[in-house]
Amino acid sequence: EIIDATGLHVLPGAIDDHVHFRDPGYPQKEDFASGTAAAAFGGVTTVFDMPNTLPTVENAHALAEKHAIAAAKAHVDYGLYGVLGETSIDNVAALIEGGVIGFKLYMGNTFGRIPTPSTGAMLEAFEAVAPTGKRISLHAETNSVMERREAKLRKAGRIEPLAHLDSRPEVVAIEAVSRAAILAEWTGARIHILHISSAGELRPLAEGKARGVDITGETCPHYLFLSTDDYSRCGGIIRVNPPVREARNQGPIWAALVDGAIDVIATDHAPHAIEEKMRRDIWTVDCGFPGVETQMPLMLTAIAQGRASICDYVRWSAANPARIWGLYPRKGVIQVGADADIVVVDLGRRWTIRDRDLHSRGKASPWDGYDVQGLPLHTIVRGRFVLKDRVLQPGTCGWGRSVHSIQTMPPPKPANVQQTTTAILSSGTRT
Ligand code: NCD
Ligand code: ZN
Ligand code: ZN
Repeated sequence: EIIDATGLHVLPGAIDDHVHFRDPGYPQKEDFASGTAAAAFGGVTTVFDMPNTLPTVENAHALAEKHAIAAAKAHVDYGLYGVLGETSIDNVAALIEGGVIGFKLYMGNTFGRIPTPSTGAMLEAFEAVAPTGKRISLHAETNSVMERREAKLRKAGRIEPLAHLDSRPEVVAIEAVSRAAILAEWTGARIHILHISSAGELRPLAEGKARGVDITGETCPHYLFLSTDDYSRCGGIIRVNPPVREARNQGPIWAALVDGAIDVIATDHAPHAIEEKMRRDIWTVDCGFPGVETQMPLMLTAIAQGRASICDYVRWSAANPARIWGLYPRKGVIQVGADADIVVVDLGRRWTIRDRDLHSRGKASPWDGYDVQGLPLHTIVRGRFVLKDRVLQPGTCGWGRSVHSIQTMPPPKPANVQQTTTAILSSGTRT
């Protein structure tokens, strides 16, 4: 098939290593077909789906069930995460055998009520995964204490809950990133810090990297473009875990992307049905919103405004995630040949995001009404048009394949107990 790309740009398809497609379990929010269709419209050719579905992906059986669903419905390629928690430490080998792309460990509470492991269990979990070379993605935030505070506020019937509701201080994220980095260094585990929301998390991330820990970081468009100033405009729609922070955090997060401290732009695409986002009682609104379709237009708009270069963007959206997850150069670069994963974008196209036009089932996002510049026109997955002239191509449901079979991670890193001990001691004496 031939297209005329005069005046357009050809980029590697984006790899979004953090989406929640809710399948199986929550069809009112999303399923694999609607989620991967939204990805195709967003120029995303590979997604990694999170394991907080029903049942939780914590054993080989649940994983096999999700593989069957994804293989039947996906329009784009995908990887599936397995949960790493106290009840699944013994399932690591079976989950790898069953084809996970990596592991997800929840240090804080999240949608789906997955128990958070103690530090001791986390150490054991890291020890179990380290020799396999697989990477562990972390929801690095401890919010149980804050939930107690929230519950008290709620009981007291605060009339302006929003300002209090998501005022979880970033120190709980900073502490979690630091703890994860120490355990990773001690055990040799590879880790990926998901949804970095605050400037404070950048220091333990950079210090870990400087000490040679295999630690990578990701942020999402909402931490770059939104802040607590947007609560009044968005209401409950903007509720997300971790919460958006004060605007002063945005500059340092951008700077960390540009200088390479943060490696990846992902979306934490977390759709909920409109009723679940619009509840009168703001305390019960589900956290998260869709993002897989709007990431590229939002980021390209910032690129057009001169925040960074298009090469920077391709590093964050495609090349770096491909390298981090062992998919490079099969993914994350412009391949010439039958296997190409590419997106053809019109960088000059100005348009307005409308929630009702999103292809996700979650039709409530903070981006409704945003004027953006840059539109994916054609999305090609392994050489086949999935999106052509903004039309989802017939017969592409089920074209997506799991990328675990092409993943090659480097040999496991050795544990470094001695160096960790020294680092902990020296950071202790620095204060
Ligand atoms: C996510 C979800 O809904 O699954 N929600 C969110 O606010 N980010 C869970 C998560 O990423 O922790
Ligand atoms: Zn999370
Ligand atoms: Zn998430």
